[in-house]
Amino acid sequence: MGTGRTWGTDVVVLGGCGHVGLPLGLAFADAGLQVTLCDLNQAAVERVNAGEMPHAEPGAPDVLRRTLDRGKLRATADASTIQDAEHLVIVIGTPVDEHLNPDPQAVVSAIEAVSDHLVDGQILILRSTVFPGVTRMVERLIERLGKDVDVAFCPERIAEGKAMEELYSLPQIVSSRTDRGFERAAELFRSLTKGIVRVEPEEAELAKLFTNSYRYIKFAAANQLFMMANDYGVDYERIRMAVTQDYPRAADLPGPGFAAGPCLLKDTQQLAAFNNNNFALGQASMQVNEGLPLYLVSRMASRFDLDSMTVGILGMAFKGESDDNRSSLSYKLKRVLNVRAAEVLTSDPYVEDDPNLVSLEVVLGQADLIVIGSPHRLYANLGIRQPVVDIWNIRGNGVVV
Ligand SMILES: NC(=O)c1ccc[n+]([C@@H]2O[C@H](COP(=O)([O-])OP(=O)(O)OC[C@H]3O[C@@H](n4cnc5c(N)ncnc54)[C@H](O)[C@@H]3O)[C@@H](O)[C@H]2O)c1
Repeated sequence: MGTGRTWGTDVVVLGGCGHVGLPLGLAFADAGLQVTLCDLNQAAVERVNAGEMPHAEPGAPDVLRRTLDRGKLRATADASTIQDAEHLVIVIGTPVDEHLNPDPQAVVSAIEAVSDHLVDGQILILRSTVFPGVTRMVERLIERLGKDVDVAFCPERIAEGKAMEELYSLPQIVSSRTDRGFERAAELFRSLTKGIVRVEPEEAELAKLFTNSYRYIKFAAANQLFMMANDYGVDYERIRMAVTQDYPRAADLPGPGFAAGPCLLKDTQQLAAFNNNNFALGQASMQVNEGLPLYLVSRMASRFDLDSMTVGILGMAFKGESDDNRSSLSYKLKRVLNVRAAEVLTSDPYVEDDPNLVSLEVVLGQADLIVIGSPHRLYANLGIRQPVVDIWNIRGNGVVV
């Protein structure tokens, strides 16, 4: 690809063993590019080099083995590998802090930390979800360093669990201040997808935040309507069926559920902070979505004598068939229930990093009341003798709490 000079590696992905970086690196390597995954997480680096995924991603294990066997992929914690690559893709995490404040400096500082390894002729592609203005800050950093390095911002819009399909099927938003930067970034992503959408960097930064905030607001609308119907003693799912049946204008009305995970709340919060904390719809959505576990507990308390009951939560991941429990509302539910119920037992077949989980059999054997925390398919047809609170309607009996 590219600039006329010869590079040892086509792509280095910084943050390459994470949830976004690893599928992306795998897809590039499977497309025939030479890829190095650079990551601070030594344990994840070792697992990847041994052919093991550090987290679940359907379709990825085969590609990992295939690309390792073909010598197209390797992982390392050594940042000096950056200097061999034409393309440096940055996909490190960009969390908000404990007060929900974004840190616009985080990505810039991470790049500054490896800046000795940036070399003229490279292109640096930002892919983390960034606070608006970060692309400009990175451009200024590159100018300050006096390097001839193109900068592009190309946001990731895949959903976890669908990466190995959506990297090929979704169009890629590509932005760069220069035509050369745009062409180079677009050429890289054309190895995965035909759809390239060009906008300016500031537009692309907002496009990513708008994508996630809009989705978060839609979930909040559904959750609020669910609570309204439920308080009225009516099954929201039956209403949703009536609203959506053969009626395309409302076909995307979601069911209720925990709108959680590492992105939607965080990105809505980033957008609120960006707009001087003036984002009424986003803030109302945070209130609704984050309030759902508390609503469920108060409804359960009105029907059951929680004080004397053991409550079992099935599913601690933030979404179905996932092992990712980052920012999962099942944990908020657990915290609230810890205060209200005699005991809380939690279980999840996929989550690995929670020492407090017990087996499904223990929950089913000991709980007096079950709450479905994540809509894992396994729970759909499970024989459960206790009353079940099924906010996701995964068991198809409607949602009445
Ligand atoms: N998870 C998603 O579904 C998703 C989807 C779209 C966009 N995003 C965005 O992508 C970015 C990454 O998210 P993620 O879920 O993959 O996070 P993650 O925590 O799973 O992965 C980030 C990786 O970066 C590594 N890392 C952190 N700092 C580093 C550094 N300085 N040098 C090298 N490695 C470093 C970490 O060890 C980790 O492996 C975030 O900005 C997120 O908002 C996430």
